[in-house]
Amino acid sequence: MESLVCVDDFEKEGVNRLGRSAREFLTSGADDALTVKDNVDAYSRILIRPRMLRDVSKRDLSTTILGKKVKIPLGVSPTGLQRITHPDGECGSAKAAEKVGGIMVLSIFATSSYEEVAAAAPNVRRWCQFYMHKDRSITKGIIDRAEKAGFEAMVFTVDCQYVGNRRVSARNPLQFPRHLQFPNATPDAAKEELSIFRLHDIMDHGVTWEAVSWLKSASKMPLILKGIQTADDAIRAVELGVDAIIVSNHGGRQIDTCPATIDILPSIVRAVGERAEVYVDGGIRRGTDIFKALALGAKMVFVGRPIWYGLAVDGAKGATKVLEILRDELDMTMALAGVADIKSITSSSVCRKEDLSKL
Ligand code: FNR
Repeated sequence: MESLVCVDDFEKEGVNRLGRSAREFLTSGADDALTVKDNVDAYSRILIRPRMLRDVSKRDLSTTILGKKVKIPLGVSPTGLQRITHPDGECGSAKAAEKVGGIMVLSIFATSSYEEVAAAAPNVRRWCQFYMHKDRSITKGIIDRAEKAGFEAMVFTVDCQYVGNRRVSARNPLQFPRHLQFPNATPDAAKEELSIFRLHDIMDHGVTWEAVSWLKSASKMPLILKGIQTADDAIRAVELGVDAIIVSNHGGRQIDTCPATIDILPSIVRAVGERAEVYVDGGIRRGTDIFKALALGAKMVFVGRPIWYGLAVDGAKGATKVLEILRDELDMTMALAGVADIKSITSSSVCRKEDLSKL
């Protein structure tokens, strides 16, 4: 693993180690996967404006998320089925997040239970992600069970009423190993044989904003909406009292040709103001990407596929190395850009090429 020095190295190595089915499931996007690519490419269209002769001899990467400290504003996006990559699965990614002091978001389609993940990484801040079941009592049961296992916030993913049109899955449906289960998805999931597509069928395709108010009354945990892509929806969310928003397009897996998340982040941050925290995921592969997202107003960033690359290479150790690389790259970017702490990364730390002449 020593020869792997960046997330792209982990991608090449990790993707090669997966079988065809898991590899296609991981790398695929909707339709032509243009947004998958643009999520990544968009970061190269943003430039960093380094400042000189500032004391950067000590850097502090810590910040506050929902009123509590994190050592770094970097977390693990919820992605289902992580045990397909390595037996460590979600327990491995939670350990990685624990090691760097970030946040672990566990998918409702995880192949490890809330309780297992809590036991594997007791000191990491853990959030539970879910879709809305047609039967709300099941959703309520899931949230309450997660809270009991020490999960501290609800992440309601709103961009997945239906699974996006992934051509690779149509050509070669995901082979789900028989020994794996979905222990959180339904009360009976551990016992039933469920495919991810059948699981999506038992979710509510007709869910509306009303569900946000319902969730707020169903649990005292903070509520985060994942998958917001417009300022109008962000405003609606904060008016209904959500605590935070994750600007996300599901890693380009739902609707193709929607904008790269980093391109829409500023308009959403402006619309939300101080009323809620705004986070972003999609396409983050380098410390400079994290720096740019923070400069454009994100309080925190999350990574999805990079965690799979790390798990595929070497389980928890590989996932940890991926997060450590991102941490060290962010640290070095801050040092070279002349900022010693997270709050000093501001909109003036970055610009777009077309705006250079106006500076
Ligand atoms: C996902 N994503 C996702 N999102 C979610 O809310 N619940 C889930 O179960 C899943 N599952 C999932 C599986 C796989 C294999 C991928 C690649 C993605 C979306 C995920 O949380 C996140 O938004 C993206 O992965 C972020 O983009 P990057 O970092 O992968 O570019």
